[in-house]
Amino acid sequence: MRSPAEQYDWELAHVAVRRGRGEDLSFYSALAARTGAPILELACGTGRLTAPLGAVGLDNDPDMLAAARRRGVCRLVRADMRRFALAQRFALVAIPYNSLQLLLGAADAVACLRCAASHLAPGGVLALEVTDFQQGARRTSVDLELLARADGVSLHGALVHDVGRRVTTYHRRFEEGGEVRVDHVRLRCLDQAELEKLLSRAGLRPAEVTQEGARLFCVATLRGSGEDHQPASASADSRRALALAARERARLT
Ligand SMILES: C[S@@+](CC[C@H](N)C(=O)[O-])C[C@H]1O[C@@H](n2cnc3c(N)ncnc32)[C@H](O)[C@@H]1O
Repeated sequence: MRSPAEQYDWELAHVAVRRGRGEDLSFYSALAARTGAPILELACGTGRLTAPLGAVGLDNDPDMLAAARRRGVCRLVRADMRRFALAQRFALVAIPYNSLQLLLGAADAVACLRCAASHLAPGGVLALEVTDFQQGARRTSVDLELLARADGVSLHGALVHDVGRRVTTYHRRFEEGGEVRVDHVRLRCLDQAELEKLLSRAGLRPAEVTQEGARLFCVATLRGSGEDHQPASASADSRRALALAARERARLT
């Protein structure tokens, strides 16, 4: 059976990308064109975005980091995103693909955002995506269903929403060559107001926000580093990048 990192890439290719996951590269690329380098990606996983962005990748899982290295990422750091200290400062720090939501407690999420903020170069920005998995949910669970089958692998998934705690659990069942691996991922749900509270506690403020259904792309700056204290809607560049990617996806599906 393939390793969890290989399974992660398989799931990206066969489930996430088909549901529009690839669009976020356009968003971060358009932003990187404005901010310039260097770029740091927290929770970089197998380097899906780190490689094309030419970023430094940070993750706490050695198998994910090894996969990122195989993808061609050469600057990788094994560390916990809640507490790390690098000598370098960055024009852009990114926390893509709901990774902040893996930190279930507010104190952990704020620690991560503070650490990210402390690694910004003057004028640097933090960019992240969060999703409110419970937005519009009519039931507290989604039963196990087949998500994808390819290359001799099948993946079934189910969701359980703990509405009171704002935590959603994604249960997975991978089957390959007669073997079964069952695991789950817990994610803290975040809407715009909840994200803004966390950012504020970390000394950050949202400068641009793009809402795509339950998904939210946010660009944040250090508080007091700009004139405008109202979150602006996304810049024309990042809106255009997301719209183009969505059109491309519609064309391909
Ligand atoms: C959903 S993957 C995101 C991968 C990548 N950013 C992408 O967009 O494809 C989440 C990653 O977060 C990492 N992670 C989870 N908790 C972490 C922590 N406390 N510190 C650093 N990395 C963490 C996991 O190892 C995993 O690689």
